[in-house]
Amino acid sequence: MATTSFTADVVPQAPEDALFGLAAAFRRDESPNKVDLGIGAYRDNNAKPWVLPVVKQADDILRSDPNLNHEYLPIAGLAEFTSASQNLVLQGDSPAITDKRITSLQTVSGTGAVHLGALFLSKFYKPNTQRTAYFSDPTWPNHFQIFSNVGLPYKTYPYFHKETKGLDFEGMVNTIQSAEEGSIIVLHACAHNPTGVDPTQEQWKKLAELIRAKKHFPFFDTAYQGFASGDVARDAWAIRYFVEQGFELCIAQSYAKNFGLYGERAGCFHFVTSPSPDAQSTVSRVASQLAILQRSEISNPPAYGARIASKVLNDRDLFAQWEKDLKTMSGRIIEMRKALRGKLEELGTPGKWNHITEQIGMFSFTGLTEKQVDSLRETSHVYMTKNGRISMAGLNTNNVEYFAKAVDKAVREA
Ligand SMILES: Cc1ncc(COP(=O)(O)O)c(C=O)c1O
Repeated sequence: MATTSFTADVVPQAPEDALFGLAAAFRRDESPNKVDLGIGAYRDNNAKPWVLPVVKQADDILRSDPNLNHEYLPIAGLAEFTSASQNLVLQGDSPAITDKRITSLQTVSGTGAVHLGALFLSKFYKPNTQRTAYFSDPTWPNHFQIFSNVGLPYKTYPYFHKETKGLDFEGMVNTIQSAEEGSIIVLHACAHNPTGVDPTQEQWKKLAELIRAKKHFPFFDTAYQGFASGDVARDAWAIRYFVEQGFELCIAQSYAKNFGLYGERAGCFHFVTSPSPDAQSTVSRVASQLAILQRSEISNPPAYGARIASKVLNDRDLFAQWEKDLKTMSGRIIEMRKALRGKLEELGTPGKWNHITEQIGMFSFTGLTEKQVDSLRETSHVYMTKNGRISMAGLNTNNVEYFAKAVDKAVREA
């Protein structure tokens, strides 16, 4: 008798997650010069994780609340959190909120929100037989896994222009234009991961027109609101514009980066329907099915991170402090972009480096080749993903020059 039903031909060894594997390799490296530019988590100027001052304040308030307990949250999560999340991503006076055309569930961070949305679409979105989801090329790699796990086929649309290291808008438009009507178009709301390249407002308007003409379904993934520019309204502009235009759409919202609540897994999924006399009944039916999906997957979401975010989002003073904290993080990253570009230009490193300051958010797509990335790791103990992405948050005034010199060497030699 076979000793297992799960032999290697049935359950082959899966590759290690590239990003978490990179983090483990960094931890094993004993060089005092090592630089971690892999995982997308904010670091302060001493390369240390940063607890936002406002999060500390909210945490203190919560911990000293004698009524705090550890009961289950409702299936849809903490109501004050989901409503504040609506206000943050849209605006309190958005007609989608005032007309009750939106329903929201608290999720296991942004990943859980993308998953819940994908699962809902896989069960209920049937505009054509294919129901293909389109991701930007490149995208956050988990998009592929999440959508394929729920049985939705996917393709990609061109996004990054290799020469300009900016947006390949023409390629993006052509593919979305030729996609089958009713396709799901996954869009990064701001601070695109991994490229740091976002469409301009004019380009978003054109995309909205095209998506409407082709009856596609927009699915916004927003993991960096406020973190990108330091301004929560500016970073939500694209989503707010699409909602203003009356689209039916989904939004997956993460609080990992903008609150530094990575491990607390605070996130929110929103479904917005178009204005119509039936809108409230649509939302009520959708909400009832989302609740069933959520119940079977996680029963109810984790409480603590959402409580912290909710405290901040619902308190005027704490909100103002949060906006300051966002400026601290986004400001330091912008400074590091300037410093890195400046150093590379000073060194006369072959190539153009203007994209470093033109890209936005946590990541920069440097244009370094896989060979150069390998050489950086071997000779300079610099850890970054093979596609040439660096997490800008890993740079600081102590290591930016070291990194620039390492890049200079790799570009000249590799
Ligand atoms: C584009 C994008 N979507 C979603 C997420 C979800 O992250 P989390 O599940 O930690 O909120 C991330 C995090 O890196 C991301 O970059």
